[in-house]
Amino acid sequence: MRTSSAHVLLTGATGTIGAALARHLADRGARVSLVARTPDALRALADATGGRAFAADLCDPGRLRGLVEEVEAHEGPVDILVNNAGVETSARLPELSADQLRTTLDLNLTAPLELCRQVLPGMLARGRGHLVNISSLAGVATFPGLAAYGASKAGLTHGTSGLRADLRGTPVGTLAVEIGPVASGMMERINRHGPSAASFRRVLRARLLTLLDPDDVARAVVGAIEQGRPHLRLPRRAAPLAAVTGAPRAIARVALSGIPTSSHQRTGSGA
Ligand SMILES: NC(=O)c1ccc[n+]([C@@H]2O[C@H](COP(=O)([O-])OP(=O)(O)OC[C@H]3O[C@@H](n4cnc5c(N)ncnc54)[C@H](OP(=O)(O)O)[C@@H]3O)[C@@H](O)[C@H]2O)c1
Repeated sequence: MRTSSAHVLLTGATGTIGAALARHLADRGARVSLVARTPDALRALADATGGRAFAADLCDPGRLRGLVEEVEAHEGPVDILVNNAGVETSARLPELSADQLRTTLDLNLTAPLELCRQVLPGMLARGRGHLVNISSLAGVATFPGLAAYGASKAGLTHGTSGLRADLRGTPVGTLAVEIGPVASGMMERINRHGPSAASFRRVLRARLLTLLDPDDVARAVVGAIEQGRPHLRLPRRAAPLAAVTGAPRAIARVALSGIPTSSHQRTGSGA
């Protein structure tokens, strides 16, 4: 889908990757509606990108409810939803509080699917839309300290694949973004947990992964949206690993592609 003059709803907009995405999307001529919790940071980013700020805690079900309706009431129909907000874990599971565990799953898995649920009826009615979920290679390979985080991201990748199956034959596309470590505050926080830091040091030293630059990630995400690609896996050297993990989903997609779609799917023009 073209991003120029599209209306993009972007969560986690003030973070390392979110801010880079907001800037790249605005540079391409997109209108951005920006979501995060901290109003000052949001307002500064909205000023810099010509976007509009919507302060919201996506772990608060009361705030999450009707969020797309509120954004669309102010800014018009959402063309592209980018679910980017996320929180890491960097501890063994028993060292997390019950609240930290719930927040990880709420923010990384429930909120993105809920926003997809809210935005989809309008997209299908208008015959135009794109859903982008920022997942992680931590949902593909497992690392110490990231059990809850990895589980949430594996769920998000799988959920995005399920959405793709739901939307087959409709004009609404999906993009699952599976990225490795990015030079960011999140990575710095993860590396404060010794076992996580040691495992990332090892994979970086073995050059199985490289540390990504947030601007390169943002540029690649925007490119993948424009090209209508269903997957973006970075760094590229890790793509085969993610593709192997995704093989059962790909096989099911091919196996099911000969089976007729439901009536609402047949009305679409194809994504
Ligand atoms: N950094 C990496 O190495 C890496 C690797 C793979 C995947 N990812 C994924 O990429 C995405 C962005 O990562 P990042 O490194 O840019 O993270 P980040 O810098 O920590 O930014 C997180 C963003 O989410 C917002 N946020 C946090 N809690 C929220 C809540 N309860 N409700 C609403 N917004 C909330 C934050 O703003 P407020 O605090 O103001 O709310 C901020 O804008 C995440 O989904 C992450 O899992 C990152």
